[in-house]
Order: sequence, then C-alpha cells, then structure tokens
Amino acid sequence: MMLLADLDVAVWVSRALHLLAAMATIGGAIFVRIALLPAMKQTLSADENERVHQAVRKRWIGIVHASVTLLLLTGGLNYWWLALKTHVKPMPYHPIFGVKLLAALFIFFTAIALTGTSPGFSRMRERKSVWLTAIILAGALIVLLSGVLNQVRTTGAA
Ligand code: HEM
Repeated sequence: MMLLADLDVAVWVSRALHLLAAMATIGGAIFVRIALLPAMKQTLSADENERVHQAVRKRWIGIVHASVTLLLLTGGLNYWWLALKTHVKPMPYHPIFGVKLLAALFIFFTAIALTGTSPGFSRMRERKSVWLTAIILAGALIVLLSGVLNQVRTTGAA
C-alpha cells in the first residue's frame, strides 16, 4: 500500500517535470520566433543584434540542456510506468510513441544546434527563423500525439 502511494507521487512528479520542461522548450521557441527575433531586427543595428543574440544564447543554453535532459529522463520514466509496466495494448500505442520520440529527437537536435557554437551548424543558425518554426510545428505535433497516447492508453481505443 505504502509502495503504491510512493509510486503515484513519483508518477505525478515525473509528469509535472515533463510538462514544465516541455513548456520551457516549446514556449521559448515560440517567444524567440514570434517576438524576440522580429523585435531585435526592427530596432537594433546588425552589430547590436549580434551582441544581444550572443547574450541571450549564453543565458538560454543552460535551460535547453536542462530541459532536454529532463524530457529524456521523465519521458523514459513515463514510458516505463505508464506503458511498459502496465502492458499497454501495443497497437496503436507504440507506433504513435515512436513518431513522438522521433519528433522529440528532432527538436532536441535543432534546439542544441541553434543555441550551441559548433561551426558545423553555423548554416542552421543563419536561418534561425526557419528552424524555430520547425521546432514549433514539431512541438505542436508532439502535444497532439501525447494527448492521443493518453486517450489510447486510458480508454483502450484503437
Ligand atoms: C519536446 C519534447 C517533448 C514534449 C513537448 C512532450 C510533451 C508531452 C506532453 C504534453 C505529454 C502529456 C502529459 C499528460 O497529459 O500527462 C507527454 C506525455 C508523455 N511523454 Fe512526452 N514530451 C516530449 C518528449 C518526450 C520524450 C523524449 C519521451 C520519451 C523518452 C516522452 C514520453 C512521454 C510519455 C511516455 C508520456 C505519457 C503518454 C501517455 O499518457 O501514455 N516524451 N509528453
């Protein structure tokens, strides 16, 4: 009984951390794409733009790394507790989860490439708006798929 209560708290904490990290990752991309980048372009010279961009990047990179780590850890725990341990009906849960995981890996790769300094990804950073839009669209897909996963799991719907 005690064990069950502990497990519920763990699932609840894991879910809350998962959602917070998802909010930071996708919410940050929405803010930068829709408000920050256009406002900077409108008001700053190219030199100032680059300085502000570097300052923002340095502050945000820690949040990106922490969110990616949290999403992988809590997502893995969610999957273990909610799907594997309960022997969820495999179809269509696992294929939908696979698509969600691929979309999440795309977001992690893109967010790290955009906030990092690796010369290999400089072409991506030159087209930030395009890649941020891709992150936002992939994030919307993930949120939709996560809702479907929840319904499929809890109602057993096919
Ligand atoms: C940008 C990345 C991600 C976003 C935006 C995201 C978002 C979400 C959201 C909104 C939920 C619904 C939470 C709820 O209603 O309780 C959820 C659930 C879940 N997530 Fe993620 N997630 C991401 C990455 C991951 C990763 C990397 C994994 C696995 C390693 C994962 C595994 C899961 C699982 C198993 C659930 C529970 C689904 C169910 O109800 O059966 N997520 N996620």
